This record gives sequence, C-alpha cells and structure tokens, in this order.
Amino acid sequence: MEVTVLVGSQWGDEGKGKIVDILSNRFDIVARYQGGANAGHTVIIGDQQFILHLVPSGILRENVKCVIGNGVVIDPQALLDEIKFLESSGINTKGRLFISHNAHLIMPYHKLLDQINESGANKIGTTGRGIGPCYIDKYARKGIRIVDLLDRTVLKEKIKLNLEEKNNLLKKVYNHAELNVDDIINEYVEFDKQIDQYITDAPTLLNNAILEGKSVLIEGAQGTMLDVDHGTYPYVTSSNPTSGGACTGTGIPPTKISSVFGIVKAYTTRVGNGPFPTELFGDEGEELRKTGAEFGATTGRPRRCGWFDAFLLNYSRMINGIERTAITKLDVLGYLDEIKVCVGYEKNGKILKSYPTDISQLENITPVYETLKGWNQDISNVRSFNDLPSECKNYLSFISQSSGIEIKIISVGPKREQTIEL
Ligand code: GDP
Ligand code: IMO
Ligand code: MG
Repeated sequence: MEVTVLVGSQWGDEGKGKIVDILSNRFDIVARYQGGANAGHTVIIGDQQFILHLVPSGILRENVKCVIGNGVVIDPQALLDEIKFLESSGINTKGRLFISHNAHLIMPYHKLLDQINESGANKIGTTGRGIGPCYIDKYARKGIRIVDLLDRTVLKEKIKLNLEEKNNLLKKVYNHAELNVDDIINEYVEFDKQIDQYITDAPTLLNNAILEGKSVLIEGAQGTMLDVDHGTYPYVTSSNPTSGGACTGTGIPPTKISSVFGIVKAYTTRVGNGPFPTELFGDEGEELRKTGAEFGATTGRPRRCGWFDAFLLNYSRMINGIERTAITKLDVLGYLDEIKVCVGYEKNGKILKSYPTDISQLENITPVYETLKGWNQDISNVRSFNDLPSECKNYLSFISQSSGIEIKIISVGPKREQTIEL
C-alpha cells in the first residue's frame, strides 16, 4: 500500500503531467486534490500530445483508475470537452474516472467575476477560469457542489439564490448585464445527465482501495509558491497545492500518506504577476523561454523565466516534506556556457535565514548566485546517468546538495522515453 503525494515545487508547470505519466504505471489509482481547469498538464505519447486540465494524468495508462477529489473545482464544460477529447483519442474514461460528490462546481458567474476582478487595478494575472470566485463561494458556504446536481429541486433553489446575489453585484457594482437563471439551470441539468455516471463517494472509494492494498498517486496542480497559505500571497492561486492539501482534497487521512515526491524544473518559471527574484529579462530571458518552449499549456501566455533557485527549493522541501524529486527540462540548459544557481537572498547586507513569503520583503532582496560551468551540448538522447556530461552531473549534485533533495528521476525531453531513473 503506497500513497504518494506529487507536488509542483516552484510556481507550477514543472512537468508534473509528464512525471505522473511515468510514475503512474506503478500505481492503481491517480487522484487530483485541488485547483481546476487553471492547470494544464502535458503528456506526450508517441506523436500525440495530451493537455489535461481536470482529469488526472494517470488516465493515459489503461489499468489506472482516476479520481477527481473533493478539493477540485470543476468547470462542467471544460470537463466534458476533456472527456470527449480523451474518448475520441481512444482513451476510455467510463468505469475508470470517478468524480467526488463533494467537489464544487464552477458557475458562469465565477468566470465572469474572475475576468471582472482582473480588469481592475489589482491584477494577479489569473488564468480567468473562475478559480478564485469559486473557492470564495466554497468558503462562504454558498457553493454548488456535484452532489447538488443529483436533486433537481435543490439545484434550482441554490442556483436561484446565488444568482440573486450575483446579479445584484453584477448590476449595481460592476454595471454588467444580469445572467439568466433558467439558462444556467438548463445548462447544469444537461451537464448532470452526462456526468452522472462518473459521480461517486470518492473518500470511501479511495480509503477502501487503500485498505485492499491498492496504491494511490495524488497529483497536485499548480505549485508550492502559488499556495494560498505558503506561497507569494496575494500572487497565488486560491487553493493549497502543497502536500497538506492532498488529505483535505481527497479524504485520505495523513496517517495513510507514505511519501511526498517533488517535481523540480532545472530552472525557474512563473506565469502571471508577482515577485520572482531570479527572473531573467531581455535577451537572456527570451532565449531561455524560446529554448524551453515556455508558453502556458492553458492560456498560451509566455512564461517568465529565470535561474534555478535553491533557496526557494529548500523552502518548498520543508513545507511539503519532499523526500524524492524528479528534475525536469535539464536538456533545455544545454545551450549555456555558464549556469547560475541562486543559493540565498541578501537584504540590507544580511543573508536571510528563512524564506520570506511576504511580497514587500521579496521585492527588495538581492539573490546570491554561484556560477557553474554549462555542458554546452544536447543531452536529449542520453538515457543513463553515467552518459551525462560531467558538468551536467556537477549541476545536479550542486542543486541536490544546496536544496537538500534526493533526485530519483532526470527528465531530458518531453517524451516518455526521454527519462533517466536513478
Ligand atoms: P505541468 O503543469 O507541471 O504538468 O507542466 P506543463 O505541462 O504545463 O509544462 C511542462 C512543459 O514542458 C510541457 O510542454 C512538457 O511537454 C514539457 N516537458 C516536460 N518535461 C520536459 C523535459 O524534460 N524537457 C523538455 N524539453 N520539455 C519537457
Ligand atoms: P499547472 O498545474 C502555472 C497561476 C496563474 C496566476 C495565479 C492565479 O499547470 O502547473 P488562478 O487562475 O489559479 O486564480 O491564477 O496562478 N497559475 C498557474 N501557473 N501553472 C499552473 O498550473 C497554474 N495555475 C494557476 O498564472 O498567476
Ligand atoms: Mg502546466
């Protein structure tokens, strides 16, 4: 019985999708625990590219069952589109995909309010998928859940109540046209007809499976620094991508978690606004973005790129309890003569002892770098650790030692076979 939580160690897009796909042939179940269709997890199999937003990346392994946990916020249209795409690609979801009855639904007004909020002065740079407003309603205890779809009277009542409030807000505060109650009710009733077969009591399913000796991989979305509690608040998402969220977001108790696996990109990227101490600007940033094809899998936005930050990873290791890691996109750094690694932050002449998540502090620090020799060659065809150039091995050992992490997987390209296991 192994229950492993897999987390993004930086600001998301570390390559979680690829590594979940690699690991999931050793697991019976893969479950998502937070976030929504703001996530974009890429898996490439042969010539085919799959970008998964809501369905766990384990769906691409036919013997694996997949669960969308209660902590996830579900956009019906995004989910139906994804199921349709998977089925049309020959991936069966029936009897393999299970959706928690307690997951919250993203409603049209959530997406609208997300977009309206982003048009104001306080831009987070969200994906515009309605994530924040949906979690707000969840914690305000006004949310509409998957279970509400099962009782039409309850569903209609809840949509009506919510719309009364939201229409008031749209009209009086934002001077926006009102939304039509019946349209929304009809849309969600139609949605229910299509997903009814997937709905289940997910905590019971998962806990029974664990009791039967089945193994579970719990797939995080986003990343540690986007965590609403532990990230660079307020430039974060509205959930807990850190490992602690895996229990509340699935109903699997902490006593059943065996280990935490971190996904670490060999450099750093961030999409959206907020502090990024090791960011590279100008030609340097552009070259890294181009070489790493760093454009968002969900929104297509260019990702901000910068040097690897060992101080940040150390913090991430602490918050998540990361024991083992996969280093991804190592091949991307092959064009550089020299590579910098941030080993600490300096402020007012002093080296900080602990990671400052308060943005006012983060905006006024100077990263302290060590410079390592680059390997200056293409490693995307290397398949064994011993065949990696010595400068590359040095880089790996430096980031492992300076961040206190153990590297178990090295990824040298987006494809399944471009993977070195240690
Ligand atoms: P996720 O959100 O953490 O699953 O990551 P994304 O899928 O958003 O972004 C990772 C991108 O890098 C995708 O386009 C992957 O196909 C690609 N990728 C993953 N691992 C590697 C790697 O080792 N090398 C290269 N060059 N690309 C990779
Ligand atoms: P995956 O799972 C990278 C970022 C957005 C924005 C902030 C808040 O693919 O790694 P939100 O729409 O969640 O309210 O936006 O979080 N963000 C991500 N960045 N990868 C993601 O997911 C992200 N999901 C959200 O860009 O800065
Ligand atoms: Mg992504």
